[in-house]
Amino acid sequence: MIKVSPSLLAADFGNLEKELSAVKESGAEFIHLDVMDGLFVNNISFGIPVIKSLRAKSDLFFDTHLMIIDPLSYIKAFSDAGSDMITFHLECNSDIDETIAAIKKENKKCGISIKPKTEAEALLPYLDKIDSVLVMSVEPGFGGQSFMPEVLPKIEKIRAWKPDILLSVDGGIDDKTAPLAKKAGADTLVAGSYFFKAQDKSEAVKILKA
Ligand code: DX5
Ligand code: ZN
Repeated sequence: MIKVSPSLLAADFGNLEKELSAVKESGAEFIHLDVMDGLFVNNISFGIPVIKSLRAKSDLFFDTHLMIIDPLSYIKAFSDAGSDMITFHLECNSDIDETIAAIKKENKKCGISIKPKTEAEALLPYLDKIDSVLVMSVEPGFGGQSFMPEVLPKIEKIRAWKPDILLSVDGGIDDKTAPLAKKAGADTLVAGSYFFKAQDKSEAVKILKA
């Protein structure tokens, strides 16, 4: 069963409550929350207080994607804000095992994300300790970029190593690229532009899942 996680980065930030309802009504399972600190990536999005306010308005599963250099220092804050899953980058500056432990201590699902140039093998020491892997199919920092098909073999490898892990792909997902990601073994599709630009969001989710 394929799950869809619309990325709020492509939403209208002046109407977040309405956008959250649209996600809920579309049949998507998750909402993907892209947090950027202007250091790990060249962009700044939103953070802890915004997630906290969204939590008060929505019972969707909050899939928080931390594109920040020091996730360990902020795990408790993102947990308290209402994240259900916290995904951080393998390329960050925090100690990876300590960050996993901090997320587990909060009783949250734990994910690790890798940028397009990071090898799948770099995940091997951690795969038995985490719930999810997020493979970036664009350079993190911005929505609306083109899908990088060269990441597909990494998705195949991770799926072969861990048949049951939640395996998401993030960046440039649309009706053309979703089938490639699914064929490679992804079970969760993060989609920003494709979802929020769609007139009929339920139809967009159906197309991604099909
Ligand atoms: C990029 C973010 C993505 C992004 C996806 O740094 O992690 O989640 O919002 O947007 P689209 O689907 O437009 O590529
Ligand atoms: Zn993301």
